[in-house]
Amino acid sequence: MSKRILTGDRPTGPLHIGHYAGSLQERLRTQADPSNECFFIIADYQVLTDRLDTQDVERHVMDVATDYLSVGIDPDRSTTFVQSQVPQLADLFVLLSMLTTMSKVKSNPTVKEEVQAAGLGANMSLGMLSYPVSQAADILLFQPDFVPVGEDQLPHIELTREIARTFNNRYGEVFKIPEATVSAVPRLLGLDGNQKMSKSRGNAIFLSDPPDTVRKKIKSAVTDSDREIRYDPVARPAVSNLLSIYQIATGDDMMKIEQRFAGKGYGDLKQELTDAVIDFLAPIQQRRAVFEENRYYVTAMLRGGTERAIAEGTKTLRKVREAMKLDFSRIFRP
Ligand code: TRP
Repeated sequence: MSKRILTGDRPTGPLHIGHYAGSLQERLRTQADPSNECFFIIADYQVLTDRLDTQDVERHVMDVATDYLSVGIDPDRSTTFVQSQVPQLADLFVLLSMLTTMSKVKSNPTVKEEVQAAGLGANMSLGMLSYPVSQAADILLFQPDFVPVGEDQLPHIELTREIARTFNNRYGEVFKIPEATVSAVPRLLGLDGNQKMSKSRGNAIFLSDPPDTVRKKIKSAVTDSDREIRYDPVARPAVSNLLSIYQIATGDDMMKIEQRFAGKGYGDLKQELTDAVIDFLAPIQQRRAVFEENRYYVTAMLRGGTERAIAEGTKTLRKVREAMKLDFSRIFRP
């Protein structure tokens, strides 16, 4: 059955293998069925929720777009666009913010965590508080059936559904109620083996890491004092995570991987893992080199995608305004 999906990323730097395992792989699968429609938003405004330094945003948008192309996101099949360049999103955000109560946004657990992680406290901006409503606009403007996200995004999707229902009840059926889909692949931990892989924690292998960097990073990856190599994410999180990385790199199933390392030591595991990750990244990096040489491919994807997003967004926004009797057709389109 054909479906439309929408998901995206905050452009805070290059993407890592955690992104690949949790999200990019699934996007490629969705994209492979030509009856599906994929929308990918690079949410640059969201970067400003916890920092005001805008110096790197444009470069990071390019980084993310380059990573998308390098893993195989195809601009002829999927629409990749830049949030800040689609004015209809800001327009819809204003309208949706009227349908959202303060108590609803104030109780969002993901926002609370982010405020704490960024040490914002009372300096939290209105933009931070309201970004889930802006994200609801990101989603509803494109009327997707499914929104593939990580666990932490579920409060935002729930809010999106509530806003859509409130709108439809009040002004008439305009919005499709989107459904969140959470990847079955558990979140990868970082090479420290005890927290999720992320750029800010300095524990990630980036898709763009050259072989030498991969070697160094895996060499200093945390293991444990047990000898046996076994997949047991509860009791042995660090070692199990290395096996999970091996699984992503090779595509083998975990039974086979455990058999492969039965009776072997951490030295062997790290050596084979290093080779597997380097081999896995090689074709991605070969493509990356082409796109870095020819930035034109990257900018063309973003321009084309953003144009399509604007066309699609304009249609939805027109329906929204008509339903709300705010299209001003008597004054401006007589
Ligand atoms: N908040 C998401 C993240 O941090 C990024 C995002 C922005 C998004 N808009 C979206 C995800 C719309 C799904 C749908 O990863």
